[in-house]
Amino acid sequence: MDDAVELSWGARCLGLAFFSLSIFSVALGAVLLLVRRWPNPWCGCHVCRAYLTGSWAKEFTNLADWYAHLLRESPTGTVQVHVLGCTVTANPANVEYMLKTRFDNFPKGRRFAALLGDLLGGGIFNFDSKFCAAADVLPDGTYVDGESRVMYHPYAMGRMPSIWGADYEKFRPDRWLTGPGGSFALVNLYKYPVFQAGLRVCLGKELAITEMKAVGVAVVKAFDVDVVGENGRRGWAPTFVPGLTASISGGLPVRIKRASMQTAE
Ligand code: HEM
Repeated sequence: MDDAVELSWGARCLGLAFFSLSIFSVALGAVLLLVRRWPNPWCGCHVCRAYLTGSWAKEFTNLADWYAHLLRESPTGTVQVHVLGCTVTANPANVEYMLKTRFDNFPKGRRFAALLGDLLGGGIFNFDSKFCAAADVLPDGTYVDGESRVMYHPYAMGRMPSIWGADYEKFRPDRWLTGPGGSFALVNLYKYPVFQAGLRVCLGKELAITEMKAVGVAVVKAFDVDVVGENGRRGWAPTFVPGLTASISGGLPVRIKRASMQTAE
């Protein structure tokens, strides 16, 4: 016996309408999500054009170097990528404002926090960037929309002449040795917030610095480390790869020799 039930014409129409409405709702949701993510997709400013067309990549090997270049060029040390609804700053006064003065107006990682807050707590392992809760004006005069993304850029801040002087690219550890008798003196943390600064800083900062000192003592003092580059080429420039941790494209080929120990007099 055939159990198939023949649906009435009305029921079929209702099913079709319901199906179409579902597809339409999903499509509308996707469009709204896109509009929210790219609040100004038609911006024609040179930063947004370069970002959208990828033309920045002709001159720079990674986004961090391009941002650093834009921030150096900017009179305020701040740039806005309108198509991303994102403000990027390397201006220490803005950093202090976001991390101390108006800390509560610049919460972190809302998207992750919404999903994982109960499990991980409010902040730990939260790698999303900051948001501006209510519209605000940064100390350099930049207007920041409510709900938009705001980030300070420690990589660029380490490469700003306005912070470190014209020789910002030179390896000069003596920049930090300005205390009595050439001793170490802490630099204003808002100028170089690698461990973040203000009301919330890295909990592993001291451990990380101790590790760095241990490497300095155990490796740098005892070995001569010569960067040789691919196939032993000298004068080779390592290509930085931005990510959660900084690394170098293809690794960093080096030649290591035990240093000839100098005996103390
Ligand atoms: C050179 C090494 C390190 C750097 C540059 C660094 C940098 C940072 C930064 C910038 C933050 C703030 C993240 C944010 O909320 O936006 C942070 C948070 C944190 N770091 Fe580190 N970190 C380092 C090593 C470590 C180590 C070795 C540990 C643990 C032993 C550690 C534990 C943490 C924890 C638990 C937080 C979360 C603090 C919080 O949410 O209040 N970090 N770190």
